Amino acid sequence: MGKDVIIACDFSNKEETLKFLDLFKDEKPYVKIGMELFYGAGPEIVKEIKKRGHKIFLDLKLCDIPNTVMKAMKVLSELDVDMCNLHASGTIPMMEAAIKGLTRADGTRPLLIAVTQLTSTSEEVMKRDLLIDEKLDKVVMHYANNAKLAGLDGVVCSPLEAGKVKEVCGKEFMTVTPGVRFADGEVGDQVRVTTPEKAKEIGSDYIVVGRPITQAEDPVAAYRRCVAEFVG
Ligand code: C5P
Repeated sequence: MGKDVIIACDFSNKEETLKFLDLFKDEKPYVKIGMELFYGAGPEIVKEIKKRGHKIFLDLKLCDIPNTVMKAMKVLSELDVDMCNLHASGTIPMMEAAIKGLTRADGTRPLLIAVTQLTSTSEEVMKRDLLIDEKLDKVVMHYANNAKLAGLDGVVCSPLEAGKVKEVCGKEFMTVTPGVRFADGEVGDQVRVTTPEKAKEIGSDYIVVGRPITQAEDPVAAYRRCVAEFVG
């Protein structure tokens, strides 16, 4: 499995996004497109970035009844994204339906990963609002295992959980990890962070990096530093 750095393109419109990508002359970074940009700019932004030769992780976190998710995934598959995701809380039947919808007539499909518990959900809130009276760590590993049983390729998780996910689900099960910061950089609003080097050591397959690259004085240099530290 190839390790790679995915840039979180958290821009609010197409112009800003393409202006940012224009900075990259010698490389075609893997990019993450989230809800804000997708809902604002529409599927055209995916087509445009694909046309420029980038790989795309479309981070829309689907969660609905199996039939609806299956049909929505079919649309995303036709957009030719490389990776997309859903909420594991949608249950195994929903995840199986997602795989079915994503799989093209020739048997190929984009990678599909699951969100377990959002990192914004604390154990206390999980118990209070969701009535889940278990350790957060146990719930994350259980959901990751459900994703594996449903045939998904991996999960989005904190780099600090990546090692444990590999222990529970096997080393081929992908971990895609945000919450990455340079050792000498700003942490911002992220709480549990680690460096690209440390994420590599723990076993992340892909790191998702936003502001340390997009807000850097020299984004291309920051991207290259990330790749050097994470991929080597
Ligand atoms: O700017 P920063 O590096 O914090 O961006 C991280 C990206 O990963 C953002 O797009 C954020 O929404 C996303 N993300 C996250 N934590 C999660 C899931 C996604 O930071 N648990």
